[in-house]
Amino acid sequence: MRVLEAEFVQGFMRMADDGWQQGWHERNGGNLSYRMKAEDVAQVKEELHPAEWREIGTNVPDLAGEYFLVTGSGKYFRNVSIKPEDSFCIIEVDDKGENYRICWGLVNGGRPTSELPSHLMNHEVKKRVSGGKHRVIYHAHPANTIALTFVLPLTDEAFTRELWEMATECPVVFPGGIGVVPWMVPGGREIAVETSKLMEQYDVAIWAHHGMFCSGEDFDLTFGLMHTVEKSAEILVKVLSMTQTKRQTITPDMFRDLARDFKVTLPEKFLFEK
Ligand code: 13P
Ligand code: ZN
Repeated sequence: MRVLEAEFVQGFMRMADDGWQQGWHERNGGNLSYRMKAEDVAQVKEELHPAEWREIGTNVPDLAGEYFLVTGSGKYFRNVSIKPEDSFCIIEVDDKGENYRICWGLVNGGRPTSELPSHLMNHEVKKRVSGGKHRVIYHAHPANTIALTFVLPLTDEAFTRELWEMATECPVVFPGGIGVVPWMVPGGREIAVETSKLMEQYDVAIWAHHGMFCSGEDFDLTFGLMHTVEKSAEILVKVLSMTQTKRQTITPDMFRDLARDFKVTLPEKFLFEK
């Protein structure tokens, strides 16, 4: 089958379009990767033509031999579905998890996203902790979430609790909470290590003054997660624009009632008294 006709590639392109339409991908901002299933690889095998091996810039031994669909560095999300062969690629990871090679795409040259170390280290953690279920890592620059990193304390507790409070469904959508990475230089191994540590327990990591990473099982769940967090951040920005003190809000006991009825576990560390 042609790569561009495969359902997983269609889903990847639709997600990129959706993110662009949300306004989360100015210029080349953001990047997306999908860990391919064995049947995905088999489906498009005849179109895969491996180029030379290149260094990933970090070690991901538990991803040895895996294939990924990943956006290119410097490529624009608004072009993903218009110029797919130019905008993203399929890569294969070598048997040590140290190198990758492009097997399809990026026909006009280039390389996978500069955040490849973060994507692959997050995939490695999520593959392990989800029992292989998580396949999508998504990085975007949603404005409201970024705005909050200038006014809230840069702690997992502050972000999780404030964003849970802004919409009743939030604790159900991200019951594990949200991790926060302080400002760091993007694009390297160091920020990838810090982000992947947070991915041990969270599906969402916020990069201060930069953006957000989400992990999920498929395109719908991962896009929906980013969308839910950013919507909640938008409500908080509106509230903080009106007042510094909320007249009423959702209390810790209300969250406990919600957790019981919706059968989710909400860590007590986020249900502190304020
Ligand atoms: P890339 O164009 O290399 O994917 O970088 C965009 C980005 O958002 C960096 O954090
Ligand atoms: Zn970014």
